[in-house]
Amino acid sequence: MKMIIKNPSQIVTCSSFEGKNGSKMQDLNVLSDSSLVIEEGIIKDIDKTNIILEKYDLNEYEIVDATNKALLPGFVDSHTHFVFGGYREEEFSWRLRGDSYMDIMQRGGGIVSSVKSTKEEDFDTLYNSAKKRLDSMLSFGVTTVEGKSGYGLDMDTEIKQLQVMKKLNEDHVLDIATTFLGPHALPKEYNKDEMKFIDFMIEKVLPRVKEENLAEFADIFCEKNVFEIESSKKYLNAAKEMGFKLKLHADEIVRIEGAKLAGEVKAVSADHLLQASDEGIKSLVDNDVVCTLLPMTAFSLKEEYARARYMIDNGACVALATDLNPGSCFTNSIPLMISLATIYMNMSIEETINALTINAAKAVFREKQIGSIDVGKKADMIVLEFPSYKFLSYHIGVNIVEKVIKNGKLVFDKTKGGILC
Ligand code: NIG
Ligand code: FE
Repeated sequence: MKMIIKNPSQIVTCSSFEGKNGSKMQDLNVLSDSSLVIEEGIIKDIDKTNIILEKYDLNEYEIVDATNKALLPGFVDSHTHFVFGGYREEEFSWRLRGDSYMDIMQRGGGIVSSVKSTKEEDFDTLYNSAKKRLDSMLSFGVTTVEGKSGYGLDMDTEIKQLQVMKKLNEDHVLDIATTFLGPHALPKEYNKDEMKFIDFMIEKVLPRVKEENLAEFADIFCEKNVFEIESSKKYLNAAKEMGFKLKLHADEIVRIEGAKLAGEVKAVSADHLLQASDEGIKSLVDNDVVCTLLPMTAFSLKEEYARARYMIDNGACVALATDLNPGSCFTNSIPLMISLATIYMNMSIEETINALTINAAKAVFREKQIGSIDVGKKADMIVLEFPSYKFLSYHIGVNIVEKVIKNGKLVFDKTKGGILC
C-alpha cells in the first residue's frame, strides 16, 4: 500500500501533535506546490512536488492526482451516539410545536424511549443500522468517530451497544473511540434515587466494561434533574480510578457548573457547554480540557449556541462534533455543522477546521496519531472538489468531499460511485 497524492492546490496540514488553544486555532499551516507520500498507512514524506517526483519511483506508487483540489486531514467526529434502536420522529414534531426537550424527557419520553427500542433490538439489527450511519459519516469525510453507549441503562443492553461498536471497529474502515455512558438517564424503577443507580454503575457495570475492555472513556449526562454535581463527581472519580478517561455532557440545558467539575476531575473533554459560566470556562482552560461544542444540537433544540468566540478568545481548545443521536440531534451533517459554526458562532473557517481535526483528535486522546497532516501520522485524509478549504463554509450545506483516504487507502471516491470498501 504505497500512494503519492500529487499536486493538490493546498495541503491544509493543521500541523500539530497537540491540541490548539485560543489564537493558535487560527493557524492551518497551508502548503502549496507540494505533494505527499504514504507508505504502510502512514504519512512518510511531504515536500515540493518537483522534489517528490524526482525522489520516488512513481511506478511503485498508486498516484492520486489532486490538481486543483485541496487536501485536508480526515475529520474526527468526537461526540456521537450512533448505536441506537428505533427513532423518535413523533417527539421531533412535539418539539416543533413547542414542547421542550426536558419536558418530554420528564414525562417518560426522550432518552428512555430510545432505551426501550435499543433493548428490544438484537445485536445484528443494531449493528446493521449503525454500520449504515458509519458509511454516511465516511462520505462526509469523517475518518475517526467517537461512539457512546447509554441507551441501555442496564447491564445487558449497555454491554450489547459496546459490543456492537467493538465489532464495527473491527469490520468497518472507520476507527471508533468507544465511550461508556451508562448514566445517561435515570430509569423509573430507581424512584429518583440517582445515587443508587450511580452505585450500580460503579460496582457492577463499570468493572465489567473494564474487564472486557469495551470502552476507553466514561461519560455522564451531568444535568439538573438528571445526574447532578454530587452524583456525577462520585461516578467520574470512580471511573477514573478504574482507568477510564473522562468526558461529560456538561451545562447543556441548565447551568449547574458541570464545566467546573470537568476541570476539577481533569476530563479529556466537556461537551455541549451551552450554559457554561465564565468561571466554568476558565476551569476548562486551566485544566487543559477540550471544549467540545455541538452546534447542531443547539440548532435542533432551538437553544442559544455555546459561546465559542468567548472560549477561543480566552484561550480554550475548542472542538466541534455532530452529537448524532435519535433525539436532540438526528443529523451527522458536517456541512450543516460548518455553516452553523462559521455563520452563527462567529468561528472563522480556519478555527472551524482545526476544531474538526486536531482538536477533535485531542478530544478522543489521539492527537499524536491523527488530526493533522504530519509525517509519522496515520494517512487519514480528504480531497475536496474545490481548490481551497474556504469552500467548506462558502458552499453552504453542500458536501464537497470528493475522496477519502483512510490508513493510506482510497476508501471513498465520489467520481467512482462513492464508498469503495
Ligand atoms: O448529547 N443530552 C444528552 N444526551 C444526548 C441526547 C440523547 C437523546 O436525546 O437521545 C445529547 O444531546
Ligand atoms: Fe451527546
